[in-house]
Amino acid sequence: MSEDVTRRNLLKQTAVAAALSAGPAVMSSSGQNNRLRVGWIATGSRGAHVMGQMYLSSKDLVEVTHVCDTYKGNLAKGKDIVQTQGKNTPKTTVDYRDVINDPNVDVIFIASPEHWHYPMAMAALKAKKHIYLEKPIGHTIEEGAEIVALAEKTNVVVQVGTQNRSNKLYIQAKKMVEDGYIGEVHYTRAFWYRNFDQTVDPAKGVPAAWRYIIPADVSPENTDWKRFLEAAEHKNIPFSKERYFQWRNYWDYSGGISTDLLVHQTDITNFVVGGLVKAELPLSCMASGGIYQWGGPDDREVPDTMSALYDYPNKFHLNYSCFFGNDNFGYGEEFMGQKGTIEVKDRQNLSYSPQPKFIRGAKPFSDKGPLTLNYLKDFNQPDATADHVRNFLDAVLGKGKAIAPARAGQIAAIPGHMATQSFRAKKAVFWDAKTSKLKIG
Ligand SMILES: NC(=O)c1ccc[n+]([C@@H]2O[C@H](COP(=O)([O-])OP(=O)(O)OC[C@H]3O[C@@H](n4cnc5c(N)ncnc54)[C@H](O)[C@@H]3O)[C@@H](O)[C@H]2O)c1
Repeated sequence: MSEDVTRRNLLKQTAVAAALSAGPAVMSSSGQNNRLRVGWIATGSRGAHVMGQMYLSSKDLVEVTHVCDTYKGNLAKGKDIVQTQGKNTPKTTVDYRDVINDPNVDVIFIASPEHWHYPMAMAALKAKKHIYLEKPIGHTIEEGAEIVALAEKTNVVVQVGTQNRSNKLYIQAKKMVEDGYIGEVHYTRAFWYRNFDQTVDPAKGVPAAWRYIIPADVSPENTDWKRFLEAAEHKNIPFSKERYFQWRNYWDYSGGISTDLLVHQTDITNFVVGGLVKAELPLSCMASGGIYQWGGPDDREVPDTMSALYDYPNKFHLNYSCFFGNDNFGYGEEFMGQKGTIEVKDRQNLSYSPQPKFIRGAKPFSDKGPLTLNYLKDFNQPDATADHVRNFLDAVLGKGKAIAPARAGQIAAIPGHMATQSFRAKKAVFWDAKTSKLKIG
């Protein structure tokens, strides 16, 4: 089959798959102009971005009534986005409980640092609010498990911020796997490589990887430092603007590479090949790495270099690597099957190549020809987050199912926590599916 005919057929099938995802009605729209009333917790870098994407894809469905952030600068930024894009003025607060406890709020977006996900999500679920919760679902396995249990008991809609599931390239990849393009699958390679300009003086404000710009005006008061620490393990730490704005570098607030980045890739591996492998969680993980690229005196705690090797039930292996000192290979997953390979690169390009490549004289193992797809050219989808948010809001309105429910978020996060534990203990870790507990060494 020619690449063009194959592409046309595939694109038709993706549209059908999307249309079939409709689910049961959950609630009907409410509030002014019949829109869902949205309470927004945290408008930092991701929160502001997701909010912008929400206005792009779903302006017709929402009215943001509350914005909450403990840093005054970001609180003002969030309010400004609502005023500019939504044309209304939201209430503002530094206390997330004001948002959750307002009976007029229908849905809550949570884009706070990782250590705050659990208290905020649990409070929202107890108040029976639908939530869009940024990944990872929790800072620990136990936190995630409690969120899943309450979400499923409460029967509200939870969408975890693993937006790759709404990326049409991955929806396509999943379909291709189901249609036999790669055959039996035992191996996936996933990676995320980044770099930063080491020649630039950080004092001049140019961000290095995970050393994001700290606004000049920050103080313990306008960041509400005490409140930031409320959900952290150590509560008596003196004010640190680095900890507040660059929280990913510290174990108290983040699992580092494994829960910040890797979870996207364990998630999408499950999404794309999980059905074929028939296994959701690994049996074991062995992770290693260190702070190799960072250099210089620094109080960074999490590694900038990490590899994690996973063995899953049913003879499936996931090979993950991440390095912050060379971005040549970018971001990607390679789903390597017996009949062919699907690679999704930088969340922008999908390529399919049949097997084999090098065995001289061998007949092709697949009847499918090579294929390439591009996120803009073939799908006109610049940012999957817009569709991820729309999918969430549609689910709340009963027009579909959330594509990344709490359980999927937890299945993505457990391997991340396994990698953190293995890295920190310098030992292999094992997942006991019967007890849902991790064993170290
Ligand atoms: N899905 C994705 O692709 C993606 C990308 C980036 C970040 N994220 C996730 O988004 C979340 C936020 O990351 P970020 O990069 O925006 O961090 P950030 O530091 O830029 O923003 C965090 C915001 O939370 C606020 N905050 C902290 N404690 C708070 C509290 N108790 N109450 C209210 N506000 C509080 C801070 O003032 C800040 O504005 C994290 O969970 C991260 O993992 C997801």
